[in-house]
Amino acid sequence: MNTRLKVALTALGASAALFAGTVGDDFLLNTRNTTLALRKEGGRWHVLHYGSRVDSQQDINALAWNLWTGGHGHGQRRPASYAVYGEKTLTIGINKYGGLQVTHADGCPTTSLEGMKAETLDDASGATHLVLTMKDRVYPFHVTQHFRALADCDVIETWVELRNGEDGAVRLGRMDSFAMDFPAMSDTLWLQNAGGQWAAEAQLQENAIGRGQTLSFGSRSGVRDAFENNASFMLTAGCRSTETSGQVLGGVLCWSGSWGIGVQRDFCDFVSVRAGVDTSAGAYVLDPGKTIVLPKFAFTWSSAGKGQISRNIHRWARRWQMPAGSKLRPVLLNSWEGSYFSFTEKVLHDMMDGVKEMGGELFVLDDGWFGTGKYARDDVHRDKVGLGDWVINPEKLPNGLVGLNEEARRRGLKFGFWVEPEMVNTNSWLYEAHPDWIVRERRRPVNVGRGGSQTVLDYTNPAVRENIFAQLDALYSKIPGLSYIKWDANADFFNMGSPYLDEAHQANMPFDYTVGLYDLLARIRAKYPDIDIQACSSGGGHADYGFLRYADEFWGSDDSDARERIFIQWGESQFYPACAIAAHVTAVPNHQTGRTTPLKFRFDVAMSARLGFELHPKELSADDLAFAKQCVSDYKRIRPVVQQGDLYRLVSPYGHSYASLMYVDESRDHAVVFLWGMVRGNWSDYPGPLALQGLDASKRYRVREINRRKGGNLHCRVDGKTLGGQALLSMGLPVRLRGDWDSAVFELTAE
Ligand code: GLA
Repeated sequence: MNTRLKVALTALGASAALFAGTVGDDFLLNTRNTTLALRKEGGRWHVLHYGSRVDSQQDINALAWNLWTGGHGHGQRRPASYAVYGEKTLTIGINKYGGLQVTHADGCPTTSLEGMKAETLDDASGATHLVLTMKDRVYPFHVTQHFRALADCDVIETWVELRNGEDGAVRLGRMDSFAMDFPAMSDTLWLQNAGGQWAAEAQLQENAIGRGQTLSFGSRSGVRDAFENNASFMLTAGCRSTETSGQVLGGVLCWSGSWGIGVQRDFCDFVSVRAGVDTSAGAYVLDPGKTIVLPKFAFTWSSAGKGQISRNIHRWARRWQMPAGSKLRPVLLNSWEGSYFSFTEKVLHDMMDGVKEMGGELFVLDDGWFGTGKYARDDVHRDKVGLGDWVINPEKLPNGLVGLNEEARRRGLKFGFWVEPEMVNTNSWLYEAHPDWIVRERRRPVNVGRGGSQTVLDYTNPAVRENIFAQLDALYSKIPGLSYIKWDANADFFNMGSPYLDEAHQANMPFDYTVGLYDLLARIRAKYPDIDIQACSSGGGHADYGFLRYADEFWGSDDSDARERIFIQWGESQFYPACAIAAHVTAVPNHQTGRTTPLKFRFDVAMSARLGFELHPKELSADDLAFAKQCVSDYKRIRPVVQQGDLYRLVSPYGHSYASLMYVDESRDHAVVFLWGMVRGNWSDYPGPLALQGLDASKRYRVREINRRKGGNLHCRVDGKTLGGQALLSMGLPVRLRGDWDSAVFELTAE
């Protein structure tokens, strides 16, 4: 079948099974609005184009710089589909910036690939799955590059498999999942990423990349992989993009361990983008006959700014990546900030009564329920003991988790609880029995983290994973209808190495650890498909799409201050859909910042993501309780729009004293607009009419302000009116804010 026919069939969304088979030397990998054009020449696969859709192979070939980009001999480069160290992709010289560096069994540090086979695979899901099989021109070292185009969301997933057919081990100094070269098409390049740390996740920054510069960022935590930085980026070519304009490449690396992303722009405007696992602990040793599968990287393109990148990735996440991305997430109360380690059964029952009264659906018991004897995680020992011993502390909870589950169910609530399965305290029965089950160097003293005793279990060791699986399984299987698990991870690799791996493979620990983690998560998910998992890692440290393959959401941040959350959730929303971002209303003064904001403001912020609570409801006044009830009931109505709708960020909190965003459902019948004022004076910027997006111009919408407190101000003078989509889109919604921490939520319903 010829390429053009394949392209046409792909465009129609025809099943890939129709054209499974070998492909020629040209291939157009299309989604609805984008094209990745690949061509094999000189035995190598090259990128001719990635960006807005182009259907004519002839035009692409004619405009493709004859496969060379760059000015003169020294600058000319061939844009490889997978750039490797040592490849002759320069007219004069070899590529020393490739994303793969292999030291072959005989010590040779370069690689030169040749395309052996190219085929599309049967993909029952309707995606187009292109597989490029390559081999080193000299060594029996094999590289298979996969591309899976998902037409409906304009996302292409890619990953690489490496197989060592040599007669000795090879060392992988670099092993990126994505290492693609492009002509820059512009003399300015801007890279946006989300940097972060504990209680300050996903802070956006955008920097220009000059000629000859490389901008790179990553995380070397090993566990809290979304601290330091989030494994995602947006790269703009040309004028700085906005939410609604600009040519933008967006990508996410699906990995929960250490990673790095880099964009190199050389002296002749050739751009190399790399994303992959971090190898700073040493080259990965791949034994003869072994294959390693590198993590998936998902990328998308928009010629209409960053907002579209977010919507594409959100759609991809819900439809293709997350285990149950279309399921509505429950309103829950988590016990942590309401009681920390100090609880009794009575305290928890009271919390259940409170969340039930507010209209919540799920009660989650946080840290502090486990460990026995001298290692009981009680109010005295707190976080110093017990991790690894996943058995109930009978002194604290005589009726156990089973009893709590019954109490929750009696109230019509679902039940879930907290675990930290990747960790162990040196003060635990598990560690006493197995001091060699932790990540550590053989001959150095063990560095410890939280509580002066926390370390990371060695998940490269199958016996460790088996033990943790058996412990969790024993708990889960006894709790009928168990609904939710908060999977926490409050440490980095403070030690590097594995007592399980032999001396030659010590540097493999970080990668093999994450593979082990996924193995355990997959087993749990397979046995308990109906238990929702929250990924948590000291807050948003596990906000990544590797974990979200198994988890349904992540805890946005340990910083629950609503003002801080505007920024954190704004940053997280660049790549993560609202259904995945857990946001809880907590008490004031806020425990992390000491700031006091109105309850309404806290609701208005938390309701823009997956709403929950982390406070003791009995501390709310009768008025507050009544208000909370009303908010929860409204949230349940708007939940499908917030959690499953398209996000439009209207006014950024960066550089403004207020911020606004909105969600629109797929039918464009229902929309919700959030507006949050921060600290504002008479000289502050006042919100102009909010230029709405995403509505259907031909429909008429009734505008209604929700989340209003009794006697509270109206924030929009057209409240209650029905207005045309066309006018709302072009004239905007007239809103106003008064004083600090004033906020509003508007619901728009098509009539
Ligand atoms: C981490 C989490 C919190 C809470 C505590 C419990 O910090 O991010 O939400 O679960 O651990 O120890």
